[in-house]
Amino acid sequence: MLIKTPQRSQLIESDVTNESIYHDRRSLLKNMGFLGAGALMNAALSKNANAGFFSDEVPSFKTQPLSYKQDSANQGLVKTPEQKVISHNNFYEFGAKKDQPVELAQGFNVDPWKLTISGECDNPITLDYDDLTKLFPLEERIYRLRCVEAWSMVVPWIGFSLVDLLKKVAPNSRAKYVAFETLYDPKQMPGQANRRLGGGIKYPYVEALRIDEAMNPLTLMSVGLYGKTLPPQNGAPIRLVVPWKYGFKSIKSIVAIKLLEHQPSTTWKNLAPKEYGFYANVNPNHDHPRWSQESERRITSGGLFTRNRIATLPFNGYGEEVAHLYQGMDLSKHY
Ligand code: MTE
Repeated sequence: MLIKTPQRSQLIESDVTNESIYHDRRSLLKNMGFLGAGALMNAALSKNANAGFFSDEVPSFKTQPLSYKQDSANQGLVKTPEQKVISHNNFYEFGAKKDQPVELAQGFNVDPWKLTISGECDNPITLDYDDLTKLFPLEERIYRLRCVEAWSMVVPWIGFSLVDLLKKVAPNSRAKYVAFETLYDPKQMPGQANRRLGGGIKYPYVEALRIDEAMNPLTLMSVGLYGKTLPPQNGAPIRLVVPWKYGFKSIKSIVAIKLLEHQPSTTWKNLAPKEYGFYANVNPNHDHPRWSQESERRITSGGLFTRNRIATLPFNGYGEEVAHLYQGMDLSKHY
């Protein structure tokens, strides 16, 4: 990749990139071809570069309005504008650059959809597309989303707690982990068909949580954002949102959830275990081997060159709700 590695994450776009270079970059990148394989979240290298991209693409996918209970506790959080939430994405199945998912996912077919929940449980079930928004009352959750690449957003998700779904299938005593799998469909997901476009990931994308993490009421199955069903680039029709962990745990477009006795393999840990751990709790005291995690660039309504660097909080600010899950664990070992 063309992008230079910064010394520390304190830099922002305007420290390293002048505006005319930024405006030329989109066409430049198009001419360069796709991102290098496995350079992985190497957009991270580019937090001073393409992590600042917002596509000017007008999404054509039709989203539907949802009925839900408002998040009355968090209306005070300054939300990232919807246009930025839906045009600055990590969804490698539709390309490893931030502006590719909104361009390449608009034809994604989400209905019919099947989500199976099985494994170590008494009542395995399969949900179809309508079940996803009708099975449980929906609520808004305004959460901070902190990407491991050191940018963040505040997103008004709509969904239900994963624990409600898990209760329905009745996990048995062997269920120690919950594993998630994204759809594998190279015909629809060009990043799965083209290794370079898909960032060198071995698909399907898989993630997992410990069962107590999965049962925590903050852990959300999201079916929408900003009052409407999810657009494909954000993980339609259903995705996970785990707000105290780096964003890569929040797996998109889920087709299978499995209760397991043993810890399964997960996509980023598998690809680069020294850089991405199983836990991936947001931790300003544990740097990524190639950059600091002490601070983050909050994406807000300001322009690309606004200084929005803020301190990163342990557990992304949700320590009161989740720190007890990790009592006695060395979090620099279990990163
Ligand atoms: N899920 C799948 N299937 N594929 C991905 O590439 N990227 C992850 C996560 N879920 C990813 C995924 C990463 S790195 C982040 S930061 C978040 O999705 C981004 O979610 P957003 O695009 O809705 O902001």
